[in-house]
Amino acid sequence: MTTPDSITIRRPDDWHVHLRDGALLAGVAPHTARQFARAIVMPNLSPPMTDVAGVSAYRERIMAALPAGTDFTPLMTLYLTDHTDPDEVERGHSAGVFVAAKLYPAHATTGSAHGVTDVANIMPVLARMEKIGMPLLIHGEVTDNHVDIFDREAVFIERTLIPLVKALPGLRVVFEHVTTSEAVQFVESAGANLAATITPQHLHINRNAMLVGGIRPHAYCLPVAKREHHRLALRKAATSGSAQFFLGTDSAPHAKHLKEAACGCAGIFNAPFALESYIRVFEEEGALDKFEGFASEHGPRFYRLPLNEGTVTLERAPVTVPDEIDVGETMVVPFHAGETLGWRFRP
Ligand code: DOR
Ligand code: ZN
Repeated sequence: MTTPDSITIRRPDDWHVHLRDGALLAGVAPHTARQFARAIVMPNLSPPMTDVAGVSAYRERIMAALPAGTDFTPLMTLYLTDHTDPDEVERGHSAGVFVAAKLYPAHATTGSAHGVTDVANIMPVLARMEKIGMPLLIHGEVTDNHVDIFDREAVFIERTLIPLVKALPGLRVVFEHVTTSEAVQFVESAGANLAATITPQHLHINRNAMLVGGIRPHAYCLPVAKREHHRLALRKAATSGSAQFFLGTDSAPHAKHLKEAACGCAGIFNAPFALESYIRVFEEEGALDKFEGFASEHGPRFYRLPLNEGTVTLERAPVTVPDEIDVGETMVVPFHAGETLGWRFRP
């Protein structure tokens, strides 16, 4: 099959990213702002972003961390806890501070210790979000110790998502970073109020990447990569052209020494070569014509935001990903470290 030497698409957005704070923010945010016009910024800082004042101040810190003149809009999210006040949610949303709210089940992942212990505790908040049309973003894993880590997403669908969608059918939900065929099937069967983001890593690697030939902490993120048949289901969904699936990198940098440790942190830093990584999947699947929808159209339509003006180009050229990237105060190992990718990003 012949494929073009370059592809130009409408400027894309990243619908799920961790930009961190402090010195790390200044080191990582420019990588996202270089490729994407907007990004949904996760609120799992320490302490988490739980009110209008905190989220507004964080937004200012992000803008201050970018080089002057950078054309980038952070779309901010609120961190839900058992104690979130529905009025604060509505206030922040109508003021344009919160684009969405994030549900972390307590202790599901990095920075989720203050998350929600039982969705029943936040039903008044979710009902208000349904009423005002504010999207709910979900880290979809149960935290029950009796459930195997590889099953936690599928069990979350049964125990939490199905009842939630039934109770609040008008609530618009993004099932974040889906990793299983069960999640793909659930989203496809759920209708237009449900969508999902898909990361580059879950399209490229299965769990062998973490565990074969030695334990490889840089392939570890949450939800953890699953078996090969799940990866294939994700690739099919991402490249299908369905408006329910869109780009969300979940780029989650951690210092190299914090990943290469006896208890390594979860998270993969994929921002520097995110588009190069995704487009390779679309090329391999013979679906380059579906790339623009996934990267630049389905997300804004779901969030009811305008499509971006302007374009970016990816041209066919070998690009070698460095072994590590200096993000100011520390080194971080990027996704695809040491690999050569077949496309080069041109703003
Ligand atoms: O791997 C992950 N890292 N998954 C998450 O849900 C959080 C993230 C982080 O903040 O490091
Ligand atoms: Zn995340």
